[in-house]
This record gives sequence, C-alpha cells and structure tokens, in this order.
Amino acid sequence: MSSRGNFSGRIGFILTAAGSAVGLGNIWKFPYLAGQNGGAVFLFIYLFCVFVLCYPVMVGEISIGRHAGLDAYGSYNKLGGKKWGYLGLFGIMIGIFILSFYNVVAGWAFGYFLHISFGDLLNETDFSSFFGLFVNDIFDLTSAKGLANSNFIFSMVFMAMTAFIVAKGIQKGIEAANKIMMPTLYIILICIIVYSLTLPNAMSGVRYYLIPDLEELKIQTLFEGLKQAFFSLSLGMGTLMTYGSYLKKSENITSSVATISLADTSVAFLAGLMVFPLIHFLQFKLQITEVAQAGPPLIFIVLPQIFHEMGPLLGRIVGGLFFLLVCFAALTSTISLLEVPVAYLVDQKKMDRKKVSWGTALLIFVIGLPVMASQGMIPALNNLPFYKGQDYLVFVADMCDIGLTVGGCLMCIFITTRWKIENMHSELENGNPNYRTSFLKKYLNFTIQYVCPVLLGILSILIIYDKFVGI
Ligand code: PHE
Repeated sequence: MSSRGNFSGRIGFILTAAGSAVGLGNIWKFPYLAGQNGGAVFLFIYLFCVFVLCYPVMVGEISIGRHAGLDAYGSYNKLGGKKWGYLGLFGIMIGIFILSFYNVVAGWAFGYFLHISFGDLLNETDFSSFFGLFVNDIFDLTSAKGLANSNFIFSMVFMAMTAFIVAKGIQKGIEAANKIMMPTLYIILICIIVYSLTLPNAMSGVRYYLIPDLEELKIQTLFEGLKQAFFSLSLGMGTLMTYGSYLKKSENITSSVATISLADTSVAFLAGLMVFPLIHFLQFKLQITEVAQAGPPLIFIVLPQIFHEMGPLLGRIVGGLFFLLVCFAALTSTISLLEVPVAYLVDQKKMDRKKVSWGTALLIFVIGLPVMASQGMIPALNNLPFYKGQDYLVFVADMCDIGLTVGGCLMCIFITTRWKIENMHSELENGNPNYRTSFLKKYLNFTIQYVCPVLLGILSILIIYDKFVGI
C-alpha cells in the first residue's frame, strides 16, 4: 500500500475527505436550493437524508476502498469480479463528467474573485447582465480587458491548479493542500457570518432559513434534498472509495465518517446562515421580494449586488474573501474528483502519476468546453429540445446527480449480495474494537441491506421519471 501513498493519519484523512465533500455543493448550490425549496423544510429533509441514507453509504464506500486498497474499478473488480468492475468504471465516468462542469463553475468563481479583489467589478450597476455577458462569451477577447476577462483562461488555470496538486501525490499534494485550505475556509466563513448577522433585516433571513413552513413540502423537495445530500457528500461514484484506499487499517472508519458528515453539513448550514441574512438585507434595502428564489446565479448576481451596496472598500474585502472561500472549497473538491481517474490509471495501467494527472486534467478540460459554451455562446447547447429547453450545463449536472444515487444504490446491493455484509463488518472492526457489539453495527446491518437499496432505488426511479416526464 505504501508504494501507492497513504494519508499520514486521522486528521489528514478527515480534512481531505471533508475537503472533497465541502465544495460548490455547499456554498453555491445549498443556499439557492434551500431558497427555492422553502428554506427550513429543505434543511430538515436534507439532514434526514444525510444521517439516515448517506451515512451508511459513506461507511460502505470507504470500507470497500480500504479493504481492497485500490481505485474504484480495481476495488469492485477485486472483491466482486469483472462484472462488478463495471460499476467502478461507471463511477469513474460520472466523476469525469462532474469535474467537467464543476471546473467551469469554479472558473467563474475564480474570475469573480480576481475581478472583485483586483478589478472594478463592484462598480457595475447591473450584475445580472454582467453575469450574462461574463458566461456567454467564453473568450471575450474583444473587450478592453481582453484575456483578463476570459472564462476559458479562468477555468484552465483552475484545472491546472488541480492537476498540480494531484500530481504531487497523496501526502505531499492532496493532504497538504487540504490542511491549509480547510481551516482557512472555516475562518473566512465564520467572519462573513458574524458580519452578515449585524446587517439590518438580518434576522428576517435567519427566520426564513430556520423556521419550516410545511406548506412548502412537496415530493420534489425530497428529491432535491436527496440528490443534494449525495452530491454534497461526494457519494456514489468512488471518490471516497479511492480516498479510503489510502487509509491505514488502524483508523476508525465509522467515527471518521461521522466527523466528515458533520463537517460537510455544518458548512452547508453555515453557508445558508451567511447567505440568507445578506439576501434579506438586500431585500430590505431595495424594497424587493423575489431574490431568495434566485437559483443558480444567486452567488454570482445577488451577492455581488450586496457587496456593491456595502461600499467600495468593505465590498471589496467581504466580496473578495467570499469568492476566495468559494475557490478554496471548489479546489479541495476538484482535487478529489481528478484523483478518481488518476488512481485508476496509476493502479490499473501502471502509469506515472505526474503524467497521468496532467493528461487527464487536460482531457476533462476539453470535455468541459461544451459546458462553457452552453451559456449562450452556442445557442443549440443553451436550449436543449429534449430537455425542456434547459441548457447543457443543467443537463450534465442532473444526469450526474442521478448517476450518484444509482451508484449508491448499486453499491449497497454489491455489499449485500456479492461482497457480503459480514466482510464489511470485519473491515469496520479494524481501528474500532468496540464495533462488534455496538448498536451501530445493527443499524448499519439493517440500513445497508434493506433501507438504503430500497429507498435509493425507488427514489432514483422517481427522480428519472420526474426529470423526463414530470410528476
Ligand atoms: N461534494 C462536492 C461539493 O459539494 C462535489 C463532489 C461530488 C466532489 C462528487 C466529489 C465527488 O461541491
């Protein structure tokens, strides 16, 4: 195992796995999904999904990875034979597609960070049309700012940073980067929350966020909560299986997973606590009502407007820090996404980690080009006739979400029918001598064999039906 590299210990593993989990999902998606799905109602459904359905799946995924000590394909193949190996390949493909669109959005955040901190973005008056132009023309070489405004460059630099870290290996690259970025991320987040809670009308935002309105409860809220929980915890496609393969036998998986889930959930929760007071401050200041429902552009349109309202200096500081936070969160996730295909090529094809990291990153960047161009530059990609006129970015993101819940469901079936749950239990006893007689063992035994596969299976089918036909 040591020739593949491994984590230095408990803290390194937890920070790195939490780094994978904490990402755009928490800071970009969670607040707008909560905004669109009834605030507190969404929060509670999300928490239910995390603790009842996702916790067992995460434990299962990491156990498989640590037991096999290989990449996602290699792990399934070793424990279940060639047919199950395809499930690993399916996960690797999903990871590649997630990274292809994720890196584009991360590139936008990186561009916003530069434009707010060092440029004059906050002098804009119409942030909505700025965003439209920004994502539309990916090269934007015609404007006065030239290259400095090019989305293409921002995404490419972001992917290069990802490749650079992954190329350096597990401890010196991935773990070291996470050990710096994750604590910094928490500090920035807390600072912005403290500030946003002091703004006028902040408490109205807190109330909307924390007091459930049961009228908002719909079946789609459950779908959104489940998909978001899987995406946010990086489950269902082999990221945590791959990270688990670098974990020492002496570490306690069940308690590490509890810490990782809590870390991820707390950042999503705190991101909401940061964003809703800001939004309600803006509503108060401009006397408007509809911003809470802003959707995907929330952090790119509504938040800059708020930073603008704060005045030139404060806006630059708070806004710059906010987008730096987003970049850190995204980078710790893109690293984990790139590691999945890289580990596959290193383990299975015996290729050189450095070359493979850069080569795979380049390939995925190219796969992401249509995503970049789908925001207006190529009209056909902006309006997919078979997908209710939505754009290619939404389409890829939705398909990946479905891939994650299906992957999670099949993983539970794999553990139950092929690998056998007793093997998972004995893997979990490593590093946790009390596990054998614990209540947790009974809980996992029941959820992984019955609750998770059944509920995830039913919900995945309903989600697919809802996407293409509509409920
Ligand atoms: N969990 C990450 C986020 O919340 C995204 C991700 C999904 C990363 C799947 C790895 C695997 O942003």
